[in-house]
Amino acid sequence: MATLGVNIDHIATLRQARGGKEPDPIHAAVLAELAGAHGITAHLREDRRHMQDRDIYLLKQIVSTHLNLEMAPTGEMLHVAIDVTPYIATLVPEKREERTTEGGLIVAGKERDLEKICDQLQESNVAVSLFIDPDIQQIKAAKRIGVSHVELHTGYYANATGQARHDELQKLREMAYAANHNGMHVNAGHGLNYRNVSAVADMEHIEELNIGHSIISRATLAGMETAVRDMLALI
Ligand code: PXP
Repeated sequence: MATLGVNIDHIATLRQARGGKEPDPIHAAVLAELAGAHGITAHLREDRRHMQDRDIYLLKQIVSTHLNLEMAPTGEMLHVAIDVTPYIATLVPEKREERTTEGGLIVAGKERDLEKICDQLQESNVAVSLFIDPDIQQIKAAKRIGVSHVELHTGYYANATGQARHDELQKLREMAYAANHNGMHVNAGHGLNYRNVSAVADMEHIEELNIGHSIISRATLAGMETAVRDMLALI
């Protein structure tokens, strides 16, 4: 059975919309763990559009499952990660203009630069995962760097329809097998929701799914009736 890492970035997105204290992603992490989440994932972006440094430091203290810090492979983020020491750091590409992480990290051809960052994280007792497209060249490059984990980008599958969707699923299956046979743990995520998750969760070699937007979206609507009733009772 695949385990579930809940990405709580969008609780912070909602908080930042008003610039206040609510809703607090720390509370979301506690509730996600009480509901059975196996891990908590948070992305500290360079532009701090959702998670703030304070969130990451507090998550480190309160998360009792494991904390997965998503980060761009930059000097600034390396400094934070080494200070916080999450259980695992997932290296992702980051562009300022994007709404969310778009493609996977280009690892092939960039081994030397990435290896320096990965080595420093691993020496600080932080496991490293590389968020990559389901592509054999990227898997081989991840293996050369010597990381313990990869996270396969499921966004192509999530966005495809018809035969293309079937093909993307097959590619994920084959690449999960390839990464596993190259000695790495295999996670997956991006764009997974209540309708498309089962086919990925069923894959033998995928260990953990990282899911954010669909869970936070459902949480806001599933709580709507109670929230309105609570306000009506006060009025
Ligand atoms: N995995 C990675 C590496 C991501 O960057 C994201 C988005 O922050 C996710 C998983 C979760 O994607 P979604 O919010 O679409 O579930």
